[in-house]
Amino acid sequence: MKYAEEISKRRTFAIISHPDAGKTTLTEKFLLFGGAIQVAGAVKSNKIKKHATSDFMEIEKQRGISVATSVMCFEYNGINVNLLDTPGHKDFAEDTYRTLTAVDSVILVVDCVKGVEEQTERLMEVCRMRNTPVIIFINKMDRDGKNAFDLLDELEAKLKIKVRPLSWPINIGSTFKGVYNLYDKTLQLFQAKQKDDEKITIENLADKNLDKEVGETDANQLRSDVELIEGVYHNFDVQEYLGGHIAPVFFGSAMNNFGVRELLETFIQIAPKPLARPTDKREVSPDEDKFTGFIFKIHANLDPRHRDRIAFLRVCSGKFERNKFFHHVRLDKDVRFSSPFSFMARSKNVLDDAFPGDVVGLFDTGNFKIGDTLTEGENVLFTGIPSFSPEIFKEVVNKDPLKTKQLEKGLQQLTDEGVAQLFTQNMGHKKIIGTVGELQFEVIQYRLLHEYGATVSFVTLPYYKACWITCDDAQKLEDFCKFKNQFLANDKDGRLVYLAQSSWYLDTERKNNPDIHFHFTSEFMNDEG
Ligand code: G4P
Repeated sequence: MKYAEEISKRRTFAIISHPDAGKTTLTEKFLLFGGAIQVAGAVKSNKIKKHATSDFMEIEKQRGISVATSVMCFEYNGINVNLLDTPGHKDFAEDTYRTLTAVDSVILVVDCVKGVEEQTERLMEVCRMRNTPVIIFINKMDRDGKNAFDLLDELEAKLKIKVRPLSWPINIGSTFKGVYNLYDKTLQLFQAKQKDDEKITIENLADKNLDKEVGETDANQLRSDVELIEGVYHNFDVQEYLGGHIAPVFFGSAMNNFGVRELLETFIQIAPKPLARPTDKREVSPDEDKFTGFIFKIHANLDPRHRDRIAFLRVCSGKFERNKFFHHVRLDKDVRFSSPFSFMARSKNVLDDAFPGDVVGLFDTGNFKIGDTLTEGENVLFTGIPSFSPEIFKEVVNKDPLKTKQLEKGLQQLTDEGVAQLFTQNMGHKKIIGTVGELQFEVIQYRLLHEYGATVSFVTLPYYKACWITCDDAQKLEDFCKFKNQFLANDKDGRLVYLAQSSWYLDTERKNNPDIHFHFTSEFMNDEG
């Protein structure tokens, strides 16, 4: 346990939300508290992505900004906080899912007016798959939103997780007066554009001071609400939260900086320090002496004249060191990095060492793909970095046969980066790109042309899902493949994939072929449903 002290000082997390719920605003307030930025508005430009149009400049801008804000580090109360950014636009959802593999917990932001939205549900599904501890922040309490109890019910029903309020609002919208912290029994009164966060301690809710502060009617309402909460909800148990079974809930207003500091302080107190991670052979504990880490994100260089890319490494155990040889398990070769960098203070600083929970930026000339593992020699591969079934499928049409080689290389590299998934049919001759959003096709077309000189167009294919298929009985699999040949393809690693035209076709095939297993993620994790 050489690095126990370093490990206990680190918290690595992501803020996730449906676009517009307030993720960027909350991020910015955290960074202000952590002293990582000095002025409000510094992270704002981040939001162009959610209105991304087919304007290529926007795409380029987004790529630039998303490198700069991919990982934000700051120190708060002696804790090194690593905040990993996730794209807001739903077309980049896969990128978000992968980033979630590199964090130890998340803060989920919900808009009190809109409640739980589609993207929130999907993100939560990914958290549930991994038992990621979740804290929920109900934002925009200064706006006329839903009733707080209704919101809690909605969270439980739609997100399929038990919740436990740790603060409670007094009214909402124009009559919002503040929140009562159920954890440390303090009352915080709302002021727009909160600067100081003066708290009033009210140990006993019967205290007449409460009436004085918020008025008799609201004081009585708070008393009966709290009585109801204490009756309905069990005491908050940190272990349950750490196991991903219960999500504490806070109410506030990010824009007004209200309830943000207490959210951050509770987060620092209860959020997990770097956790153990599964590999194909064993679980790797962060306090092991030897270094391990994995690549969860790859970002192409913005300058097309330089092919090198930035690979994001999450350190899982031991100590990462500059210029030390590490083992690249998939390629079975040793590699070292002369200028790895940290994302501290939004500028790239060369770093000499890094510890579990940290994210290191590595310049890469094409050695990495997402999910790659680095170790001090041991042959283990981190798991739990799956691909999900795409939702839009298009065939790639090569418009310039003289550039076939460049096209092959471009497709290979872009799919290594995780921009899209590549499936092939007819011995590799027919290439199908699968994505979760239309925007990626524009990114791919643009980048193939500008970075690789290849011109392509796309033909939309009538598929709705790709399922990885396996079968214990080789003969049955062969029979299935014979009959369904036109709907089968290979993924990048040569695995068999069934392309379903609709949910009806998929259900029918599953019913008719009970021995064939249809998997919705590439890692085949308890996903048959
Ligand atoms: P996102 O990253 O989750 O997509 O959301 P973002 O923080 O960009 O917030 C979306 C909009 O909601 C922004 O308004 C932001 O100012 C507003 N907002 C965030 N927190 C609160 C809050 O506590 N109360 C209220 N009333 N609004 C909030 P916008 O008009 O899109 O942008 P801007 O012109 O304010 O920058």
